[in-house]
Amino acid sequence: MKNPIALETVAENTVFRKGDVFVLFGELFGRGYATGLLDQARKTGMHIVGITVGRRDENNALRPLTDDELSAAEARLGGTIINVPLMAGFDLDAPAKGSTPTDLLAGMTLESWEHDKLDWEYIERCKAVAIARFTNALSQVMAILDGMIADGRNVFFAHTMAGGIPKAKVFLVVANRIYKGTGSRHLSSQALLDSDMGKLILQNFDEVSANTFRHLIDFSAAIRERVEASGGQVRYTAYGYHGTGILIDNEYRWQTYTNYTQGYAKMRLEGIAEDAWAVGVKATVYNCPEIRTNSSDVFTGIELPLIPLLLALKKENGGRWAAEQWRACEELLADGFTVDDVIRKISDLQASEVMIPFYDFSAWPMPNSQAQADLTIGTSNEITRMHRDTKVMISDLLSALVVEATGQLIFGESSSPCGPVRWLNHDVVARRLNASHEEPETAWRSVTPGALDGASSRLEIA
Ligand SMILES: NC(=O)c1ccc[n+]([C@@H]2O[C@H](COP(=O)([O-])OP(=O)(O)OC[C@H]3O[C@@H](n4cnc5c(N)ncnc54)[C@H](O)[C@@H]3O)[C@@H](O)[C@H]2O)c1
Repeated sequence: MKNPIALETVAENTVFRKGDVFVLFGELFGRGYATGLLDQARKTGMHIVGITVGRRDENNALRPLTDDELSAAEARLGGTIINVPLMAGFDLDAPAKGSTPTDLLAGMTLESWEHDKLDWEYIERCKAVAIARFTNALSQVMAILDGMIADGRNVFFAHTMAGGIPKAKVFLVVANRIYKGTGSRHLSSQALLDSDMGKLILQNFDEVSANTFRHLIDFSAAIRERVEASGGQVRYTAYGYHGTGILIDNEYRWQTYTNYTQGYAKMRLEGIAEDAWAVGVKATVYNCPEIRTNSSDVFTGIELPLIPLLLALKKENGGRWAAEQWRACEELLADGFTVDDVIRKISDLQASEVMIPFYDFSAWPMPNSQAQADLTIGTSNEITRMHRDTKVMISDLLSALVVEATGQLIFGESSSPCGPVRWLNHDVVARRLNASHEEPETAWRSVTPGALDGASSRLEIA
């Protein structure tokens, strides 16, 4: 994409209804993005179907969920799980009796990894084994799913898969230093990409975070054709990341977390939606804001652009409810700190000479630098320490709000999606939240001074 095309309108669902089928293509974790979309599907009375990535046994063989695991997962999902393992990526696959790519990485050390070479012809064979395994499993999943969808029903496929970090000790140490290391512990993300280990990991990210979307679209073609022929409609959505427009100096501006190593896979994901769209398949990647989830917690500082959502809530006509969010955030801070203090730290970071070169959409995803990593990670650590309890943070509260809003936005937009790639910036997220929670008469401007106790004094009309 040459420009970040924003989703501008808040649309309502006009297609999906009770008895239609919602397919979650990825597993559900408590605070992940998928929970927001699932809430909408549940409210609509859709029949929910999930998949599993499966589990590895002690010999790394992939197995389905046990009965206990399956019933726990189905209870969490509130639907039926097709119990055929759909783990993507080739990090643990190999031709019979051969070493897996993870085994090959295990031979690398902290001293050697930058220069260690991989046999790419062999890696291609591992990849072919993994793709055959995944697509065979996917054919089985689609055959079962086909029997679960009656003619005339609409179907919503929600792709949520992202990952591909191999469980190799050397990589985990390197990743820790790239995403969490400051000072002498800093490591250049470009050094990783220049190494064979880094090139392998990028390919694995492509397989998990991008190519699975193409497989989903391709392998559901028969279902799509049958459903459409019987008068139903089919939609595909996927979660992208490609920076977010947030309020900086009272203006919505694009910015990004750096270094987002998965960015190449996310651009590939956008390309897959564009290809599908070009042949008439309604597939849309929604590029979503930075939030904290099981997957994103590895990136220290990812929460920094999230916190100014509070400013957007105010700007987009927030009222009593928005003020309550400010106050709830303030209560999470230790004595002596205010939300304003936190936001000031983030504004200082965004305005610094160190960060400005990184807010270049056309150069995304840029490698990290020592100064940028020190500032991002240092600011994140400082803000964490400003909390009363570092296990209950402002970013937890705001992440949950973004999950709720994006679920509503994506679900609403999917009735009549307007393109293959759209950015959900803080403006539309804030508008969606305010529309859901505010009583019309309590819009910010009409809140009586003093009615909001401490919060009101800090939240004068801009
Ligand atoms: N957290 C963020 O800041 C953020 C921002 C924008 C977009 N996203 C995207 O949102 C989506 C959901 O992520 P999330 O942050 O909610 O985290 P999450 O941990 O809840 O979800 C990650 C998903 O990836 C699946 N997955 C992981 N490894 C896999 C593998 N090898 N094979 C198949 N599936 C695998 C998991 O089953 C799960 O469904 C992802 O596409 C992510 O990139 C996240």
